[in-house]
Amino acid sequence: HRHLTGIEGLQPHEITFLLDEAENWVEANRRHAKPDKRLDGLTQINAFFENSTRTLLSFEIAGKRLGADVVNMHAAQSSVKKGETLIDTAQTLNAMRADVIVIRHMSSGAVRLIADKVDCPVLNAGDGRHEHPTQALLDALAIRRRRGSVAGQRVVICGDILHSRVARSNILALTALAADVRVCAPSTLMPPAMDRMFVTPFTDFDQAITDADVVMMLRVQNERMDGGYIPSSREFRLRYGLTPERLARIPDALVMHPGPMNRGVEIDSAVADGAQSAITEQVEMGVAVRMACLDVLTRRARGVEGWA
Ligand code: CP
Repeated sequence: HRHLTGIEGLQPHEITFLLDEAENWVEANRRHAKPDKRLDGLTQINAFFENSTRTLLSFEIAGKRLGADVVNMHAAQSSVKKGETLIDTAQTLNAMRADVIVIRHMSSGAVRLIADKVDCPVLNAGDGRHEHPTQALLDALAIRRRRGSVAGQRVVICGDILHSRVARSNILALTALAADVRVCAPSTLMPPAMDRMFVTPFTDFDQAITDADVVMMLRVQNERMDGGYIPSSREFRLRYGLTPERLARIPDALVMHPGPMNRGVEIDSAVADGAQSAITEQVEMGVAVRMACLDVLTRRARGVEGWA
C-alpha cells in the first residue's frame, strides 16, 4: 500500500495532484453537495496518541462526508495507558481489518513504524517533530487559492522551527512548489543547516518580513523543549510576535497560523482576527485536503486507478 507518512518523497506533480483533488471538495463542501459515498463500506480508524482538535475532527468529518465508517481511538482511554506497545496496538488495529488508518503520535517516526506493520494505507496526522503532511497540503492550498499560485511567493515561517513538524512539512511542500521560503526563530529554536532545506534563515523578525507575501506564525512548543531554554511570553512577543505594528509594514501579506494559537505571544488577537488573516480558511481547507487524501490513498484498494 501507498502511505502518506510525509511530504518528503512526494514529487511536485504529486503534491499538485493532491491539491487539485482537494480543490474539487472545497467547492462541493461550500455548495453543501450531496454526500459522496465513495468510501462506503470502508472502516477508517483515527488513532490519536496525542491531543488534537483540528486534525482529528477534520479527518472524522472528511471520512464521514465520503461515506466511511469512522472510529476514533483516543490513547488516553486505550490500553496504551496499561503499557501496550506501539507495535501491539498497530497489530490490533490491523486485526480489526481497518481499510485506512490515520495516526497522530508524539514520537517522530512512529507513523512509519505502524505503516510497516499493517495491511492498509496509513496517513500521518503529525508525528513528533517529524512531519504533518496534511497540514502542509492545506496550507499550500490556502496560499494557492488566495494568491493564484504558490510558486514565487515569499513565505516567512516564524516561531519554534526546531520542534515543529508543521514547519518541516511546510518547508518541504512550499519549496517543492517553488515558493521562496524564509524561516525565522531565535537561534535556540532554529535547526542547523537550513540552507540544505533550500530556505533562508533569519533571527531578526523585522528583517525576515520585509516584502513578505505570506507570514506563517508557529506556537512555541513548550511540551517538546526537553529541558532547553524556553523564552518568556513577553520576550517572545517583543522580538517575534506578529503585532499590528509589524503587520502595518506588509499590508498585503496573508497571515497564517496552523493553530492552536497562543494569542498575545506569537500572534496578537487583532492580527489573528483581522482582515489579512487566512486562519479560518486554513481550517476549511483541512477538510477538503483530508477528503482528497483519504480518497486517493484508498483508490487502489477500491479497484480505482491509483494516484499520479
Ligand atoms: N494544526 C493542528 O494540527 O491542530 P491540532 O493539533 O488541533 O490538530
